[in-house]
Order: sequence, then structure tokens, then C-alpha cells
Amino acid sequence: MRLAATAAVAHLASLASAACDDVADGFASLYGGTTGGLSGIEVVVNNLENLRTYASAEGPHIIKVEGTITVDLAGKELEVASDKTIIGVGDSAHIENGGFGIHGVSNVIIRNLRITNPGDPDESDHDCIQADNSTNIWIDHCLFDDPSGDGLVDLRKDATLFTVSNTIFRNHDKTFGIGWTENVVAEGTIHHNWFDGTHQRNPSADNLLHAHLYNNYVTGVTGYGHYARGSTDARIENVYFVDTADPITADEDATLTSTGIIVEGDSGEPAADQGEAFSPSDFYDYKLDATEDVPSIVEGSAGPQAGICS
Ligand SMILES: *[C@@H]1O[C@H](CO)[C@@H](O)[C@H](O)[C@H]1NC(C)=O
Repeated sequence: MRLAATAAVAHLASLASAACDDVADGFASLYGGTTGGLSGIEVVVNNLENLRTYASAEGPHIIKVEGTITVDLAGKELEVASDKTIIGVGDSAHIENGGFGIHGVSNVIIRNLRITNPGDPDESDHDCIQADNSTNIWIDHCLFDDPSGDGLVDLRKDATLFTVSNTIFRNHDKTFGIGWTENVVAEGTIHHNWFDGTHQRNPSADNLLHAHLYNNYVTGVTGYGHYARGSTDARIENVYFVDTADPITADEDATLTSTGIIVEGDSGEPAADQGEAFSPSDFYDYKLDATEDVPSIVEGSAGPQAGICS
């Protein structure tokens, strides 16, 4: 039964097959797991009205997105209810002019989509994905590449048990923020992502109880790369940095352990370790790739892929 799949099994399944109903690995696999619309109603949508209707419907749905869907009222976030998988068919599904809002819900998967959500960052709060106060979220094989708008991904107000994997962040200022809370409760896994020429927050991980970052590829970042902010406990493993201003930074109250890091090109010095970070393998199984293989693996497989959902 897929619901009982371990993180390790789910990870293998995602590598091997084109299943639109894969389940999450990492912290999102804990406490009931992140299964999205598994075993629910399966629909294919190619227009805004149907996307909006099914995303906010009750009960588990696998919503397969075909082609480009343009959100009217640029910057709007479509609300996503609990137990949803929203997944692109093939490698060209695109949500433009808007994004997704995940507010006070649980068990949401967003995969294999390009999302661009324009807006004026000084006047609005438009993100490609914004999650507040929600649990069990998996963002995987997406491409966020909008130069305007607020954040590409903002996970806020105790949003927890999330995994962000195999995703490309490109062409943006405030890339990926986690936090906006005094509580130190959130737990997340961030792996095999490509932060490509972005500026700040790659990610900024503020007040996370556990932040596990591994096998990410960070290139040409002009602000800072992985940031253990506030009281975050961060374990960083086998991340490859190229031409990145401040590859790893940490606040005074953060715990930070980084191992297997490669820093090359015109990059700054990564922050020194502070204390001893938690051990991710106490929570779930995962496979660490060799750091020197990260550029080819991530360039080859991050972002939407034809074989993920057909
Ligand atoms: C989350 O939502 C619950 C229920 O609405 C509320 O009581 C709680 O204060 C919220 N937490 C945060 C951090 O916003």
C-alpha cells in the first residue's frame, strides 16, 4: 500500500517511473506523510476555472495540469485545500501571472510545474508558492523564474514538514524564505535544488527546529546562499557552490554543521560550524550523492521533466 511507503521507497519510485501519484521523501514523509491526492479523484485541467475549482475542492484530488494556464488579476494566488496533488503533464505545464496559496491546510504536493507570478515586490506580497501555518508540503521538480513579485517560495508562520526538491530557482531577488515566526517548530528538507543566479534567500531559513539541506547546486548567487537564521538548527551536506557571494551564513543563535561542501570560482568563505547540528538519519532515510556529481545530476534532472507525469 503506497500510503505506508517509506521515504526510501518513495525516493526510488520517483527516480524510476512516471507516476503522477508519487509521495514525498524527507521531513514531508513524516507524521502521516505527504501523499497529496493519492487514491482520490484524478482530473486533467487546461483552464483557470477548472484549476481553481479543483485546487480548492474538498477531498483528495490529483490535478494534472496541461499547457499554460494564465491567472487573471496578475499576482493572484490560487487557494489550495488539503489532500491535493497539482502536477504538470510532460515538461511544459506553466502557471503564469499567478501562484498557489497554501493556508492552514495539510498534505499538498506541487510538482513538475513552471510558475511565474509577477507583481511589484514593494507593493504586493505575490509569491509563486506561499504557505502559512500548514503541514506536509512537497514541492518538487518545479521551475520558478520570475524577475518580479515578492518571493518565489515563502513558507511562513510555522508551515512545517516540508520537502523542496529537484527545483530550479532562477532570475529573482528574494528567492526562498522560510520563517516569519518566533516559534522554533518547523522542520524541512531542501535537496537537489538549483539556485541559479538569484540574489538573496537561497534559502533564508529562520527559526527552524530542523533544516536539512543537501546536494543543492548554488551558482552565481549575488547576495547569500544557504542562511541559518535566528535559532535554526541546520545540517548542510554535500552542497556545490560556484561564484556565490556568501555561500553559507549563520546567525549567532543558530546551530550549523556543514560537511562535504565544494566552493569554487569567485565565491566568499562559508561560515564556520557552530555547535553540532541534528542528525537527519534519526528521522528518515536518504541517499547522499557525492558533491562532485551534484552539478551534472542537478543540471540534468532539476525542474519539470517529461517523464514525471504523463
Ligand atoms: C495557525 O492557525 C491556528 C488556527 O487558525 C491559529 O490558532 C494559530 O495561531 C495559527 N498559527 C500561526 C503561527 O499563525
